[in-house]
Amino acid sequence: MIEKINGSTRLCGVIGNPIAHTLSPLIHNTLSGDMGVNLVYVPFHVTEDLAAAVRGAYHLNVLGMNVTVPYKSQVMEALVEVDEGARTIGSVNTLVRTEGGFKGYNTDYLGLRRAMVEDGIQVEGRSVLLLGAGGAARAAAYLAGSMGARELCIMNRTKSRGETLAEEMGALFPEMKTMGLGLDEAHRLESSSYTAIQTTKAGMWPEVSQLPVEDDRVYEKIDQAVDIIFNPENTEFMKKVRAFGGVAVNGLKMLLYQGIIAYELWNDVKVSDEEARRVYECMKKEFESE
Ligand code: ATR
Repeated sequence: MIEKINGSTRLCGVIGNPIAHTLSPLIHNTLSGDMGVNLVYVPFHVTEDLAAAVRGAYHLNVLGMNVTVPYKSQVMEALVEVDEGARTIGSVNTLVRTEGGFKGYNTDYLGLRRAMVEDGIQVEGRSVLLLGAGGAARAAAYLAGSMGARELCIMNRTKSRGETLAEEMGALFPEMKTMGLGLDEAHRLESSSYTAIQTTKAGMWPEVSQLPVEDDRVYEKIDQAVDIIFNPENTEFMKKVRAFGGVAVNGLKMLLYQGIIAYELWNDVKVSDEEARRVYECMKKEFESE
């Protein structure tokens, strides 16, 4: 957190509804305090007229915004430009000032990519098993295609939704083989070693005992996994993957890096690995103190 607010202090913030539980102010205010950047980051609870809020922020010379639930796709209508990845995913979480208005980016998928690379969770040339077919799954599916996955298998409670997403990603990334499966179709999994990306809300606090899929034959075939949930720290899904000999990490680093990448875009700086580690420790402490 910066020590003094003065005439040169810049403002950033996050728009959402609800917004009270966001960790983003902690990420960005820690970065600014540590890096000596004169910037304050606050939550904006927007309940109506999102476009007016975005326009107002631009004209108030707000440096940059994050956007969270439920506005990540709706916000695109209020922007002058949308980055290609964000447009394909259909979701924007970061607004950067440009001439005449904000440009939208999706640092959720970029953050997940950086987190997976750092933790050694491989995608290139691998078979990726995606659990879920909602908004977060779209970002993960795009990541799989853009990082050169060999195969993308989308397993979802509503099979047709997974099939539709699989077909779309197959058209976008013709080199990648795609298929959609229901939760009862573990027998159709063709590879014996998947990189899994868990994107459903099953297992998220307070429903901590839920699994996104029950069948052990799925877990037998996963050797690396990321669960985008970060509360609890270890989900039932992660425990199952480990019980069958796989490596599993949670989504806290994805959250860290979506913030860091947004911060880098706004301030035209590079956040060092050491600084990233410091912020990550602060985020972990925040959970311990709850
Ligand atoms: P988000 O944008 O956060 O991804 P979403 O669009 O509501 O949220 O998608 C949630 C995903 O989690 C969906 O794939 C959903 O399955 P359905 O398509 O069948 O709705 C999946 N999901 C949610 N709760 C689940 C549960 N208890 N078990 C398995 N899958 C679940």
